[in-house]
Amino acid sequence: MEPDEKEDFQYSLVELSEVDSTNAYLFDLYHKQQIVSDLMTVSAKYQSKGRGQRTSQGWESNWGENLLFSFLINPRPIAIRDQFVLSQIVALAVKEELDTFDDGFRIKWPNDIYWHDKKIAGILIETELEGAVFEVAVVGIGINLHQRFFNGDAPNPISLKQITHRAINQNEILNHILIRFKTDYDAYVKTYDSESIIQRYKKDLYRLNEMATYIDDKGAFQGKIVDVDRQGFLLIEDDQSCTRRYAFKEVKYKI
Ligand code: BTN
Repeated sequence: MEPDEKEDFQYSLVELSEVDSTNAYLFDLYHKQQIVSDLMTVSAKYQSKGRGQRTSQGWESNWGENLLFSFLINPRPIAIRDQFVLSQIVALAVKEELDTFDDGFRIKWPNDIYWHDKKIAGILIETELEGAVFEVAVVGIGINLHQRFFNGDAPNPISLKQITHRAINQNEILNHILIRFKTDYDAYVKTYDSESIIQRYKKDLYRLNEMATYIDDKGAFQGKIVDVDRQGFLLIEDDQSCTRRYAFKEVKYKI
C-alpha cells in the first residue's frame, strides 16, 4: 500500500486538544478495554506531560505547532528477542515520509530522526508483556513541524517548516506514516523476513562509517559506527580498531 492509496485505509483517530500524554491516554483506553482496533490513533495539539526517551525531560511542544500522536498495536506476532524490528519499522516510516520533503534526513540510533545534525522527530515505544508474549505496544511519535523556539534542553531541535518553508498538512503526514508503518509491519509478520528492513535502516543510519566522538562510561573516544545488530545493539569501531557494543543509553554522541 502506498501513501496515495490512503482513502482506502481505515483506522480510528481521536483528535484531542490537550492531554497529559497521547501514549498514556492510549494505555488508559486499552486498560479500560475500550480499544478494539489495531492502529487506533490518538493525536493532540498539546501534551502537558509528553513523555520522552529521557526520564528527566518530557517532549517539548507548543500548542498546535507540532505533530504529536500515538497508535496502538497488538505485537503478539513479534518475538520479544526480535522487538528491535518494530523500532526499525517505525523509524523508517517516519524517516521515509520526511524524505518526501527534503534530503538529509537520517535515523539516529536507535530511533531518533535527524536532519543533518539536528533532531526533528522522536519516537517512544512502550510495551506491556503477558508472560513472555508482547501484549500491547503503544508507539508514540513527536515531529517538530512548525515550532521555531525551543526552551527546554532538547538536543539541537529543528522543525520541518524551518527546513522546507512549505505549507504542511499535519493529518496528511500522520496518515502517510501509518500507511507506511502498516505496509512494512504486515509484510514482516507474514514472512518474518527482516533483512530488507535492516538494510533500509542501515542505509539511512546517521553517521554510519564516519569518524566522530562518542562518550561512554569510561570517557570520550574517537570511533565510527560500523553496524547495528539484530538485537539493536550499536557497534562502534574505535581508533584502536576495537569494536565496542552498546545498548541504548550506554553511549552518547558528541554532536
Ligand atoms: C524522544 O524522547 O525522542 C521520544 C519522544 C516521543 C514524543 C512523543 S509525542 C507523542 C507521544 N506521546 C508522548 O507522551 N510521547 C510521544
